[in-house]
Amino acid sequence: TPKKVIFSGIQPTGVPHLGNYLGALRQWVKLQDESDKSTRLIYSLVDLHAITIRQDPAQLRQWKKESLAMLLAIGLDPTRCTIFHQSDVPAHSELMWVLSCQASTGYLGRMTQWKDKTSNEKEGSERLKLGLFSYPVLQAADVLVHQTTHVPVGYDQAQHLEFAREVAQGFNHLYGADTLAIPETIISPAKRVMSLTDPQAKMSKSHPNPKSRILLTDSEETIKAKLKSAVTDSLEGITYDPPNRPGVSNLVDIIFHAEDHTSAGEDGSGQAALAKELNGTSLRVVKERAATAVNDIVRPIRERYAELIEQQSYLDEAAAAGAFKAQISAAETIQKVRKAIGV
Ligand code: ADP
Ligand code: NA
Repeated sequence: TPKKVIFSGIQPTGVPHLGNYLGALRQWVKLQDESDKSTRLIYSLVDLHAITIRQDPAQLRQWKKESLAMLLAIGLDPTRCTIFHQSDVPAHSELMWVLSCQASTGYLGRMTQWKDKTSNEKEGSERLKLGLFSYPVLQAADVLVHQTTHVPVGYDQAQHLEFAREVAQGFNHLYGADTLAIPETIISPAKRVMSLTDPQAKMSKSHPNPKSRILLTDSEETIKAKLKSAVTDSLEGITYDPPNRPGVSNLVDIIFHAEDHTSAGEDGSGQAALAKELNGTSLRVVKERAATAVNDIVRPIRERYAELIEQQSYLDEAAAAGAFKAQISAAETIQKVRKAIGV
C-alpha cells in the first residue's frame, strides 16, 4: 500500500473559476509535480454532490465533460493521477450508507453550511432534501473509501474534513482500529478568493452575477473587464484590510497569489507588504496589475482547454481509465468494511 494517498474533489457544476484554481486546483497540480511514485493521487468530479440541488440533466452532462477537460488543461496527468467521475464508482455511495449508520444527526445539523442553507430557506424542512442535509457524509465516504491520508481543499471545506475524521474514528473504535485511514487536511495558502461584485461573499460557481467570478476559460478582454468593474471603495490609498476594505483587499490577494508568492501569505504580512508597494498608485493600476497576473495564469490553461474540449474520444478514454483505477482503489476498502461490519 502507498505511504501517502491524496484525494480531493470538485463539483462539475460549471467551468472552474479563479477561486477554485488558487484555492484548490493549483495545489492539486503542485502535489502531483512534487510527489514521487509512492504517493497515490486521486481527484474526483463529484457529480453526486452536484444533484443536492436540482440540475438539468443535459447541462450536468455537459459540465461533467467540461470539468474533466479543465482538470487535464490545468496540468493534471491522467497517467499519474486517478481522475474520475464519482458516480462511476458506486463504492462511494455504499460507504456513505454504512457511515450514515454511524454519523450523528446532531453533528450534521450544527454544521455551518447547513445552517446557512436552512436560514435562506423560507419554506422549512418539508422542502429541504435529505441529501442536502447529509452530503457531508458522502464527502466523508469520498475521502475514506480511498484510505486517504491527505486532502487538499479550500478553507470552506475544513469543517467537513473534521467531520470525516470524527466519523472514521467512531467507525474504527467500533469495528477495528485500522479499518479506515484518518485523513489530514492541506489548506491552500490562497484561502479565500472573494466575489468581484460582492466582496463579502466568496467567489463561487453559483453566484447569479457572472461578473462576480473569473472563469478559467475567460478571454484576455473579459478578464480585464471583470477586474476593471470589480467593486472597491472610495477610501484613500491602497491598504490590505479585509474586514474593512474587502474589495481592495481581494484585489491585493488576487495579485499576491496569482503572482505566486508561495512562501508567504498565511498571516497576511505578504499582502500587507504588497499593498504598501502599490500604495501611491491608483486602483486602476492595481486592477491592471491583477489582470496581467491573472491572464498569465489563465492563458495557457484556456489554450489547452480549447484543444481538449474538442477531443471527445480522448476525454471518454480518460474518464474510463480513471473510473477503472478508482474502482480498484475503493474496492479494497469496501471489502474491509463489509467484513468488519458483518455483511
Ligand atoms: P464552488 O463552491 O465554486 O461550487 P466547489 O464546491 O466545487 O466550488 O469546490 C471545489 C474546491 O474549490 C474546494 O476545495 C473549495 O474549497 C475550493 N473553493 C471554492 N471556492 C473557493 C474560493 N472562492 N476561494 C478559495 N477556494 C475555493
Ligand atoms: Na464549495
